[in-house]
Order: sequence, then C-alpha cells, then structure tokens
Amino acid sequence: MKEKILVTGGTGYIGSHTVVELQNAGYDVVIVDNLSNSSADVVDNIEAVSGIRPAFEKIDCLDYAGLEGVFAKYQGIKAIIHFAASKAVGESVQKPLLYYRNNIGSLINLLELMPKYGVEGIVFSSSCTVYGQPDVLPVTEKAPIKKAESPYGNTKQINEEIIQDTVASGSPISAILLRYFNPIGAHPTALLGELPNGVPQNLVPYIVQTAIGIREKLSIFGNDYNTPDGTCIRDYINVVDLAKAHVVAIARILEKKQKAKVEVFNIGTGRGLSVLELVQAFEKSTGVKLNYQIAPRRAGDIEKVWADPSLANNELGWKADTPIEDTLLSAWKWQLHLREKGIQ
Ligand code: NAD
Ligand code: UD1
Repeated sequence: MKEKILVTGGTGYIGSHTVVELQNAGYDVVIVDNLSNSSADVVDNIEAVSGIRPAFEKIDCLDYAGLEGVFAKYQGIKAIIHFAASKAVGESVQKPLLYYRNNIGSLINLLELMPKYGVEGIVFSSSCTVYGQPDVLPVTEKAPIKKAESPYGNTKQINEEIIQDTVASGSPISAILLRYFNPIGAHPTALLGELPNGVPQNLVPYIVQTAIGIREKLSIFGNDYNTPDGTCIRDYINVVDLAKAHVVAIARILEKKQKAKVEVFNIGTGRGLSVLELVQAFEKSTGVKLNYQIAPRRAGDIEKVWADPSLANNELGWKADTPIEDTLLSAWKWQLHLREKGIQ
C-alpha cells in the first residue's frame, strides 16, 4: 500500500513541486492549503505533470477542527511536510501579529494532532535566514542562530524551537528541519512555478518580469559590498532539487534512519553566486539582454551567505545538481507560460 503524506501549503511554489516528486516516488499525497497565496488550478497542473490527481482540501491550518477532519477523513497519514506559512519578509515587518499567528499557530495545531492520529514525523520548511550573516562561510548547521532580522525570520527560529521542545517533552514524533537557501526556477514542463504577489521582492521573479517587459529595469541593490564584484552573494537552489530533498527526508523518517529525533539539514548547492553573476548567467542561458542599474543597498540585506550542504549530501544522499543555466531557463520558460496564459 502507498504511504500517505500530508502536504500543507501543497499548492504553493515549493509545495507543488514537492507533491509531484512525492507522487513520482510512489507516495499518496493529501494537500491542505487555504489558497491565501496560491490557486486551486495548481491541483490540475500537478495532475498534468505527474498524471496523478492529489487529494486536495481547502482548509486553513489555523482551523484545528478542520485540520482534524482531514486526519479523520484520510486515515493513515504517516508523515507531514509543512510548507504552509506566510513568507513575505517586508510584510511581516508591517503585520507581525499576522505572521506570528499564522506561522506559529499552524505548526502548533499540527504538532497537537500528530500523536492523536499516529503521524510519525514532520518535515519543516526552515530557512538560512536563521543564520543571519554567518561568521564563517560556507555555513554549516552548527553555526550559531543569530537574532532574527524580521518577524518572518523569527517565526522560523521559534518554529524550530517549538519542534525541538515538543520532541524533548516526549511526543512520539520525529522531525527533519530543512534550512533552504534561495529557491529559484520552475518545473521544466513550465506547468508549475512561482506566482509572485504584486511587485516581486525576490531577485529571480524580478529578473524574469523585467526580461519580459512587465518591469522597466532591475535595480541591483548595492555594488559596494565586501565581495569580488561588490554585489551580494547567495546560494541559489533549483526548486525541483529542493523538492527532492523533501522526498528523501520523508523516506528517512519512515524508514527510521534518523540519527536523532530532530535533525537539521542545510539545503543548498554549496556555491555562492553574486547578483551580477546571476544576471550574466540569465542572459547567457536565455539569450535575453537584461536592463539593469545599480541602486542603493536594500535595508536588512545579508552581504554573503552560502551553504555547506555536506551533511545533506552525506546523510540524506541528496545533492543539488541542476546547472544554474538550466534553472534560470526554467524560470524564463515559466514566465513565458504565464504570458501565454495572460496571467502575468
Ligand atoms: P508559497 O506562499 O508559494 O506557499 C505557501 C502555501 O501555503 C501557499 O499556497 C499558501 O496559500 C499556503 N498557506 C499559507 N498559510 C496557510 C494556512 N494557514 N493554512 C493553509 N495554507 C496556508 O511559499 P513557498 O515559497 O512555497 O514557501 C513554502 C515554505 O518554505 C514556507 O514555509 C516558506 O516560509 C519556506 N521558505 C521559502 C523560501 C523561499 O524563498 N520561497 C525560503 C526559505 C523557506
Ligand atoms: C529573502 C529574505 C529571506 C528569505 C529569502 C527567501 C530578505 C531580507 N530576506 O532573501 O529571509 O528566506 O528571501 O527566498 O528579504 N536583489 C536585487 N534586486 C532585486 C531583488 C533582489 O539586487 O530587485 C538582490 C538582493 O539584494 C540580494 C539578492 O538579490 O542580494 C537575493 O535577494 P532575494 O531574492 O530577495 O533573497 P534574499 O534577500 O537572499
């Protein structure tokens, strides 16, 4: 019998790609999403990619009774991947309570329901934002957690602690915390991708919208950082590679291969790219010239961060191996697809 996995936030950007990879690996998927930052059409697109329609419930993770109804309806859920969260850093500064309520309340509901319904484990979407500006690069999982720069970042730190405390208290669950670096790109079929709300805040959505003419020019925030070309450095990870990390994490939990009840992994490529290098890679892979200018630094930006992913490579047997050019091409094809559909 196929093992059943609950994916919260499964119609979102990373969630939708992960659902496809779970299905490809033979899992039976139940999605819970309140559609606050995605649309129900994504379920059709997942089916178009994988050939399998996942179960979908439009439920808010803050709705305890609604969530309990899902566990009761789909008996035998073995594990959860918890993506559902509010994720806009700037908005979290404006509306901290919304972020604390949504991101913390949702996790608490799941952790309370898991033992009641015999759910063995949870994979949690954390972020490299927990490291702030690391003192040592590449950053390992042992690096200190720095004071969060935003309420959003704080919710990730608090959620990691809530999971640690819950397991330490004797809850019969286990957990894997995945600290993502910068997820970018789209599914190679161009049927799944990121749908930014309004003006994109993240680099790659801004690049593709500029390339297609929705935005006039990209502003590169700062070229006077202490980096080789003066622009900030990040570890950009392909979203399908990232999705696959969740599949191996789920298998590790279900096959009881964990070395601790809570494990933490960096999910990145191990390679840092500057903003200028990324722009050049985009132009090279797509053949599209990008209009850009150098602008002042953006408040709150980290100068440079990239992962040491060796723990995930060695323990999970997972590696991000999609070349950056392919990833940027997938982002561009997704933008072309959106244009074709008249969406953006
Ligand atoms: P996304 O907004 O595309 O997906 C999140 C999904 O969760 C959306 O479909 C939204 O409708 C849903 N959702 C939000 N609150 C909900 C609730 N209370 N109940 C049910 N559904 C709810 O975001 P994403 O980029 O796919 O991110 C997924 C997860 O990964 C988030 O937890 C995010 O914080 C984390 N993360 C993302 C990035 C990134 O750069 N995208 C980086 C690090 C960590
Ligand atoms: C941001 C969040 C981080 C979150 C991550 C998820 C902030 C401060 N941090 O990280 O918490 O986990 O998204 O993906 O918002 N850039 C430009 N011009 C643009 C947009 C971005 O030059 O129009 C630069 C930024 O200065 C940065 C790099 O591109 O150097 C990447 O930016 P972005 O995609 O927003 O990601 P992060 O800032 O790394």
